[in-house]
Amino acid sequence: MSDPITIRRATPADAASIGAIWQVIAAEKIYSAIDCPFTLEQERAYLAALADREAVFLAEYAGRVIGFQSLDLWARVIRAMDHVGTVGTEILPDWRGRGIGAQLAAHTLAFARAHGYEKLVIFVRASNPNAQAFYRALGFQECGCFARQVKIDGRYDDEILMEKFL
Ligand SMILES: CC(C)(COP(=O)(O)OP(=O)(O)OC[C@H]1O[C@@H](n2cnc3c(N)ncnc32)[C@H](O)[C@@H]1OP(=O)(O)O)[C@@H](O)C(=O)NCCC(=O)NCCS
Repeated sequence: MSDPITIRRATPADAASIGAIWQVIAAEKIYSAIDCPFTLEQERAYLAALADREAVFLAEYAGRVIGFQSLDLWARVIRAMDHVGTVGTEILPDWRGRGIGAQLAAHTLAFARAHGYEKLVIFVRASNPNAQAFYRALGFQECGCFARQVKIDGRYDDEILMEKFL
């Protein structure tokens, strides 16, 4: 690997690249509750509607997007929760376990701190111990569980709640 991995903020023009990653993750069916990829229009609209305090960071190698991490307000319409954000991370299979999630998190956490977040909350599927380990390594702690919260192809999965105070 000669080229460095670069990290930058996404714009609506990145909708197709992010959508391509969702296609892969959704097809895997085991990692995310998203089992139906977003359309190009949905992804573009999501990116265009991000608030100033929200961001998607992209990891690129040789000009190709290989992973992303999103930071969204937990609840846009509840001012009392303005200090809470939620994060999502998706890396293409060939690039997992190579420190890219950690690189993205360095950007996301710095951005979150600079934009007034005090805590981050995530849901991780119970059947996804790798992602739980990833978030634990970032300092998230388990704080609850929604039972049978995900149902894909008739099979249930729980969602583990994790939080991190910044
Ligand atoms: C989970 C995921 C986001 C982690 O990103 P990544 O780039 O693979 O993770 P990194 O290589 O940056 O790992 C950082 C740390 O997280 C932990 N970690 C990551 N993957 C792990 C695994 N498979 N098993 C145990 N710990 C793991 C380790 O502590 C690691 O540090 P180390 O390499 O020094 O041991 C990525 O593997 C992925 O996209 N998986 C499929 C989709 C998914 O599960 N998304 C999350 C949905 S909630």
